[in-house]
Amino acid sequence: METKIPKLEKKVITVAFVTSAVHLGLIAYAAVKLGITVPTCVTNVKPFTTGAFIDHGQKRYEVHVLAKMWGFEPSRIRVPRGSIVDFYLTSKDVNHGFNIDRTNVNLMAVPYVVNYAQARFETPGKYPVICHEYCGAGHQAMNAMVEVAEADQPAEAEGIEAAPSPSIEAAAQPPGQKIMQTKGCFACHSVNGSPGVGPTFKGVWGRKETLSDGTAITVDEPYVIESIRKPQAKVVKGFGPVMPTIPMTDQELKDIIEYMKTIK
Ligand code: CUA
Repeated sequence: METKIPKLEKKVITVAFVTSAVHLGLIAYAAVKLGITVPTCVTNVKPFTTGAFIDHGQKRYEVHVLAKMWGFEPSRIRVPRGSIVDFYLTSKDVNHGFNIDRTNVNLMAVPYVVNYAQARFETPGKYPVICHEYCGAGHQAMNAMVEVAEADQPAEAEGIEAAPSPSIEAAAQPPGQKIMQTKGCFACHSVNGSPGVGPTFKGVWGRKETLSDGTAITVDEPYVIESIRKPQAKVVKGFGPVMPTIPMTDQELKDIIEYMKTIK
């Protein structure tokens, strides 16, 4: 028996094929002729806490843009005409926008996320950058500038806050602090007095605390050791018995205690 495809169905199939072909053709045209690359949200740049401007030579630049209330780091970059610039964007605080005038660059700056776009700058001039996501009182003044200079002008960037060198920072960090960071203690205990799930460590050494059963204690070495080994034994009043038992070596305990004494 012969299966007949109805005429209408044939038409529908033809139209579907033609529109798909046109669609794919336009994507290929955009990629090859117009140089518009398919946007990606996967980058190999880790979230960063300070802006950066990296010259890769041959008019290739990499910019790490840190959006924050209410400005961008860097606040101004200048590149020679003909440059290709890779923009990596993240936020230090809330969601921001990042739109470079007269380019295809239009991104969201999201904390802990790095978004990416590339732009090629052929025409000298000023390309204002604005934040197009409402982000608080200073939103309307949140902007930056990309300047495209003549080909022989040097590239430069402004407004990047110098980050403390990681090696110096690591050397100055007490071992106890590092251990507590690794074990996640600071998720519940602040060191600046701000409230958390557990008592703050600010000024904790020698502090008088009232326990949930009403007895008073002083935070000293035996109390801290007991609280880490058996978190539920003596819970400070006003806090839940929610601290997990986190394995610690004796040396780690010693380091932590030394560090806790210094949190004033
Ligand atoms: Cu940042 Cu609006």
